[in-house]
Amino acid sequence: MREKIVAGNWKMNCDIQEMKTLLNDLKEKDFNDGVKVMVAPSFTNLYLAKEILNDTNIEVAAQNMHEAENGAYTGEISAPMLTSLQVKTVILGHSERRSIFNESNELLASKVKSALAKGLKIIFCIGEELEARKNNKHVEVVKKQLSDSVFTLTEEEWKSITLAYEPVWAIGTGETASPQQAQDMHTGIRKMIADTYSSATAEKVSILYGGSVKPNNAKEIFAMQDVDGGLIGGAALKAEDFTQIINSF
Ligand code: G3P
Repeated sequence: MREKIVAGNWKMNCDIQEMKTLLNDLKEKDFNDGVKVMVAPSFTNLYLAKEILNDTNIEVAAQNMHEAENGAYTGEISAPMLTSLQVKTVILGHSERRSIFNESNELLASKVKSALAKGLKIIFCIGEELEARKNNKHVEVVKKQLSDSVFTLTEEEWKSITLAYEPVWAIGTGETASPQQAQDMHTGIRKMIADTYSSATAEKVSILYGGSVKPNNAKEIFAMQDVDGGLIGGAALKAEDFTQIINSF
């Protein structure tokens, strides 16, 4: 049975007061059993988010990290800094890191290795731009993202990997992929894993969908056989919406 996960990627939102309000509102909510709930605040909020949530089952994740263990990288955060806060999971390869900050598949392969070396679990993001979807190149794009960055890992290392398929054209646009589009890509991704490793490994990997998931579409998307949850952006910033999405399974 694959783990069901709903993770909120807060991106560059919430100052410390807004974070306190959102997390305290979230702590008042009731979540269905069997779903792992995560929030990924900005670096400046990580420590206090951990403190606020330490009496809950809500896990705090990081949105990124540098591949180096330490050094002259002004403004960056390392895996050891995250583990020193007892952060256990890091999001890598988000499309905004790829497009705005030019993170290549090769750089992401290095970040994945560094994160695993420090015992971090990873939510690894993949997904195509609109152009690729229009040209029916979306499967090819996702396959290259996986091949270049995570298909060199061992089967044992894959136990620390969760994938998040986020079609870039659906992120923040309100234009969600249809449940069938999500299922088709998730099935294809699971087959890529099976072809590279084994069906047994492929069956264990949780594959999340991200891209304009809202309370009014989450149930249909999460009902798809190969969708194991969601990576949520805008809706994660509202405690009630995020709760409704979590309870959509
Ligand atoms: O990482 C999740 C994010 O990219 C999705 O954003 O606002 O479309 O839910 P949103």
